[in-house]
Order: sequence, then C-alpha cells, then structure tokens
Amino acid sequence: MALAFITGGTVGLGAETARQALARGWEVAVLDLSDDRLPEDLKGVQFFKGDVTREDTVTAALDAMGAVPDLLVNNAGIVTFMPLLECSKAEFERVIAINLTGAVSVSRLAAERMIPRGSGSIVNITSTGGICTSPGTHAYAAAKRGLAAMTELMAQEWGPLGLRINAVAPGMIDGGMSTGIYANEEAAERRRAAVPSRRLGTESDIAEAVMWLASDAASYVNGHELVVDGGVTKNMMSMIPR
Ligand SMILES: NC(=O)c1ccc[n+]([C@@H]2O[C@H](COP(=O)([O-])OP(=O)(O)OC[C@H]3O[C@@H](n4cnc5c(N)ncnc54)[C@H](O)[C@@H]3O)[C@@H](O)[C@H]2O)c1
Repeated sequence: MALAFITGGTVGLGAETARQALARGWEVAVLDLSDDRLPEDLKGVQFFKGDVTREDTVTAALDAMGAVPDLLVNNAGIVTFMPLLECSKAEFERVIAINLTGAVSVSRLAAERMIPRGSGSIVNITSTGGICTSPGTHAYAAAKRGLAAMTELMAQEWGPLGLRINAVAPGMIDGGMSTGIYANEEAAERRRAAVPSRRLGTESDIAEAVMWLASDAASYVNGHELVVDGGVTKNMMSMIPR
C-alpha cells in the first residue's frame, strides 16, 4: 500500500487531503504540532507530533513510520497579516521558517529516503498569494513564491533520480486558515464576484489536485505549480476600469 506523509494534516486542507488519500487506498501518516484537532474520521492514520522547523522531530517521524513515503505533502503553514513597517525581523523569520525553510528541510529528509528507492512524489502547497502579492502578507508572499522556486529546483536536482516534485497553489478557499474570512457573507459574496468560476474554492478542490499530481496520471508532470483558483490569477484585465 502506498504511504502518504502529510505535514499539518490534522485540520483544513491537510486533513481533507488525508481523507482523499485514505479513500484512494493510501496509507496516511500525519505530522502536526498536536493531535488535539485530529477529526474522528482520521483517528486511524499514523500521527506524529512534530514541528516542520525541527529536523529532529521530522527525522523521528520518518524513521518511525515503517516505510519510506511514496508521497510527501508539504502542507503545514501559517499566515499573519500586518504592514511591512510593523513586521519585526523575528516575525518575518518565523513565517519563512515554517512556510519555506520547513518545507524545504522536510523535503530533503524525505528525498534522502526516496532517492535510494528511485521513486517518490512531493507536492508543495504554495498559494496564489505568492503569485499575486497583496499588502500585509509580508513573509507569507515571499515564502510561497520561494517555495514555488524550490519546487522547480527540486525537480531539476531530484527528477533525474526518479522523483517528481510539484506544487498546488490554492486561491480563495473557504476552509482551513481562511474560514474566518468567509464567515462574513458580504465579504464572501464580494470575493465570489471576482472569480471567473463565480465561487470560492473548497478544501476538496485542493485535495483533488494534490492527489492527481501524486497519481500515475501525472507521471510526466514535474516541477509544475498547479494553480487552483477558479481563474482569479488570470483575471487581472477584467479588474481594470475601462
Ligand atoms: N485556506 C486557504 O485559503 C489557503 C489558501 C492558499 C494556501 N493555503 C495553504 O494551504 C496550507 C494548509 O492551510 P490551511 O488553510 O489548511 O491552514 P490551517 O491553519 O487550517 O492548517 C495548517 C496546519 O499546519 C499546522 N502547522 C502550523 N505550523 C506547523 C509547524 N511548525 N509544524 C507542523 N505543523 C504546523 C497547523 O497545526 C495546522 O494543522 C498552508 O500551507 C497554507 O498556506 C491555504
């Protein structure tokens, strides 16, 4: 049975990805800061308490999971909002450490194990916030754009060794860390109107994209950032007043 290793997989997009992997017959291992929010339907997955910024905890999880993962999903992430003038060096570095450095170091630790086998897939969860930056997102935008760059670099270096490394860039998703934003129906409606598909994305939209990239159907896709945003990032000209 194939093994999927999902960071930050107890809630939100990561939990939904775990669900979809289980439904497709994968075994699932989740690493997160705590299992307090692990939903009932995911109680059967292997859970590892860990922190993507702490290589010792990631190594311990990889060593304990009983098999080399076939799929790593670098999903763990945080976002904070403030003007750049108010963003301390410590806060900037904290957001980079989890969203970028953490994802790269988990990738390297997993790749060290996948490469001797000659196969494996990594999916990095980036964001349209790294493609179209917006004021207040400081290091999150930098981290996600950086992770997209690292996706290409990993494909260049590890592709010849049998690995595929891709990214999924979610757009406006009514779920996970954005749930609070869309609790306000007026805000949700304003945003829906800006999406060519005229709806917000779901956790399932993202999990489906991850599972497709991990599947054999995507066996010739490598180094790609798949934007899943209902068309928003391609919609700029319709926002410009005539
Ligand atoms: N929800 C959205 O609208 C959206 C949009 C674009 C991109 N994303 C990206 O999707 C991914 C998942 O986001 P979500 O919306 O499900 O968020 P979420 O806040 O619901 O879940 C994030 C998970 O990451 C875990 N995590 C945080 N720091 C960690 C650390 N140091 N080590 C291990 N785990 C850690 C959290 O405990 C949590 O379980 C993130 O990378 C996020 O940037 C989300």
